[in-house]
Amino acid sequence: MARVYTDKFILTPGPTEIPDRIRQALARRTTNPDLDPEFIEYYRRVVSKLKKLLGAEKTDTYILLGEAILGLEIAVANLVKRRDKVLVVANGVYGEGFAEFVKMYQGEPILLETDWRKPVDLAELDRTLEKNRDTKLVTLVHCDTPSAILNPLEEVAKITNNYGVLLVSDSVSAIGGVPVEVDKWGIDILIGGSQKALNLPPGLTIITVSSRAWEEIDKTNYQGYYLSLKIWKEMLDKKDIFPYTHSDTLIYALSESLDMLFEEGLENVYQRHQQARKASWKALEAANLEPYPLEINYQSPTVTAIQVPAGIDEKQLRRTTWEKYGVMIAGSWGKLEGRVIRIGHMGVQASRTHLIIAYTALARALREQGYRVDIGSIVEAIEDTYKL
Ligand SMILES: Cc1ncc(COP(=O)(O)O)c(C=O)c1O
Repeated sequence: MARVYTDKFILTPGPTEIPDRIRQALARRTTNPDLDPEFIEYYRRVVSKLKKLLGAEKTDTYILLGEAILGLEIAVANLVKRRDKVLVVANGVYGEGFAEFVKMYQGEPILLETDWRKPVDLAELDRTLEKNRDTKLVTLVHCDTPSAILNPLEEVAKITNNYGVLLVSDSVSAIGGVPVEVDKWGIDILIGGSQKALNLPPGLTIITVSSRAWEEIDKTNYQGYYLSLKIWKEMLDKKDIFPYTHSDTLIYALSESLDMLFEEGLENVYQRHQQARKASWKALEAANLEPYPLEINYQSPTVTAIQVPAGIDEKQLRRTTWEKYGVMIAGSWGKLEGRVIRIGHMGVQASRTHLIIAYTALARALREQGYRVDIGSIVEAIEDTYKL
């Protein structure tokens, strides 16, 4: 396929475009993170910045080396033992996926399956916990990226705290795009990743651990090494040693990413993501495309999930946007594979320019499969959202 544009844009919901400042941080001269005494201080300063982003000033926070999936497994490995009952909020691909981890660690998942096009039904969650008083923990995916659904973390935490059960939140594709208040809301374990709204390459897992979670971690007494949170506490917090060699490069990049967020101001950052969601939905309306979430407020401000119109070959569509127009958009997973495509507007991608680039390429590729669409009205719809 002949390439029309030579510039390329990764407009997927993670990994994302990497802004220049972060790219430059990635090119910094490296050190030996195990032996350089300044590195551990640097790491701690970055952790303090993260705590500010996550409202986790009073909660232990770690940056681990490893893809975000590591954080999901760590949460389960450290909290779940044989026969523990875990209520798994299963309204998306990652939501459902927690049940597999629970089974691997011999816990008993109770699936709360609700409509995938909506956030979890809070009344149903309450009823399920009422019926299952012996539940130890609830797992929730804050933004289930494959369907773009945003679950109401704060409200869910109110319910779990009422019942005195632990709450684990996979906030991988939410942090940096939507507000999070770990201390105020009472989240026991919150997991973040580097390759979503923080615009880093993949490779870091962020994890917060409440004092209540530490008590359970002690009781669970997980015996492995690489996934052990206790080992991080014992080695890093008490002896100033990392359990394994860290990546100083990724920590420099994370520091830069957090500085960028604070320079812009968190309120502005979150407002920019809201505006991107609005512009994205306006573009869909102009293109006569159907969003997957039933309502705009059900969708995360970080990603738009779009239903593939009848008669459109989804794989070919994405091939055209990438190979011909230099724009990478994403498909989806699980039962949504082939039925949903996604545009990531997380971090720097939550911008008018990126949305115009994404939707123009998408519209061109749709046209090539006979879908009638007016590109001018899409661009105008996005532009109008950004008018003061
Ligand atoms: C909600 C959510 N959790 C976790 C992950 C991490 O998964 P992976 O390690 O496959 O990138 C992702 C990445 O897409 C995600 O969207």
